[in-house]
Amino acid sequence: MTLPACRAVYYDAATTMSEAARPSVQIPEEPQSASAREPGAGSDPGLLWDFWYPALRSSQIRGNRLAAAMLLEVPLVIGRTKDGRAFAMRDSCPHRGMPLSYGHFDGKNLECSYHGWRFDACSGRCFEIPSLTSQDKLKVDRIFAGHYPCEERDGFIWVFMTAPNSRLPAAAGLPETLPPAPVLPVFSEKYRITHLACYLPTHIDHGIIGLMDPAHGPFVHQSWWWRSRRSIHQKEKRFEPIPNGFRMSPHTPSSNSAPYKILRRLTGEPTTTMIDFALPNMRLEEIRSGNLWFSSRATVTPIRRDLCRIDFVAAWNIFLWAAPLVLPIFHFFGKRFLWQDQQTMIRQAQGLKNNPHLMLIDDADRPAKWYFALKANLLESRRTGAPMVHPMDGPVTLRWRS
Ligand code: FES
Ligand SMILES: [Fe+2]
Repeated sequence: MTLPACRAVYYDAATTMSEAARPSVQIPEEPQSASAREPGAGSDPGLLWDFWYPALRSSQIRGNRLAAAMLLEVPLVIGRTKDGRAFAMRDSCPHRGMPLSYGHFDGKNLECSYHGWRFDACSGRCFEIPSLTSQDKLKVDRIFAGHYPCEERDGFIWVFMTAPNSRLPAAAGLPETLPPAPVLPVFSEKYRITHLACYLPTHIDHGIIGLMDPAHGPFVHQSWWWRSRRSIHQKEKRFEPIPNGFRMSPHTPSSNSAPYKILRRLTGEPTTTMIDFALPNMRLEEIRSGNLWFSSRATVTPIRRDLCRIDFVAAWNIFLWAAPLVLPIFHFFGKRFLWQDQQTMIRQAQGLKNNPHLMLIDDADRPAKWYFALKANLLESRRTGAPMVHPMDGPVTLRWRS
């Protein structure tokens, strides 16, 4: 196909799949060695830099404890200063690569466990090298440990993963151009919030298109309380472009799902749901009925090129008085739902090892096509400096059976 001049990919203007939008997912048979996983080393793992990603749950860092994490194949050490500010450094001492997570943190400064170099945790700046004598001319404060902007929201530690070659201001304060860290929308003062997570042994692209895939529900998530194969029927949903993503326009959710039925009975008012997907990895769903609401966010975060994690957070103001009862039920069903996706991805990974040819079909896989096109167009706009071209040129109605 002839691609538009800037190599941007449109899907509603030209529906043929382009090279740029074709999923080029490769699952390595063996986990790669640490050095081969360095950003920029080896083949392009297809990860999106310069976005916020959830690295850990807030509850995983307490007191002066340091926690190791990994995002986009970058090892991180994460902690919280004594005044409560979360920080993220590359988990590698600039001297000899010792993981800084083995070091000692006093609530302000981090000391490497190998030769005792000391770093300011909030900037990554080195300020002391114990082996230096008064004769040494080394400018200690010009040495930095890798450092990433870090914010805490909704019970997660979010890290802004700057591209390997980009430089943030040395002080590593948040530059003005940095987008705000994501936050889950809530619609009343009182609400409950809960979290679930699960690892998927798959490339981020498969994790994401699995997340937005409308056709697997009746097969993967068969349950009496949700769907069965027999409940398959034709659906028609309107989608519209939003910045960096697309929205399933507000609509009345499918009548065959028990939770929606309950909500409608409670308020007697129409129930609407709206689902957004936005790069790099985020699905937001908002369900409203009268003054009751349920808001959830699922992110699929690349840990390595062959591993990602779904972080699910949900908040609601329904049955607040019954939270002690509702929470365990919610966790039970939520975990089961994620487990079904996880099992599917584990099995799919077996098939993907053989590098099969893959297909995306209309209309059920159109959201996946948009995702690949959004990703390609974002990278293209970053490469050229031109504004990003959205793959949708307006609202579209998709039809599928599920
Ligand atoms: S490796 Fe960290 S101080 Fe030497
Ligand atoms: Fe699923």
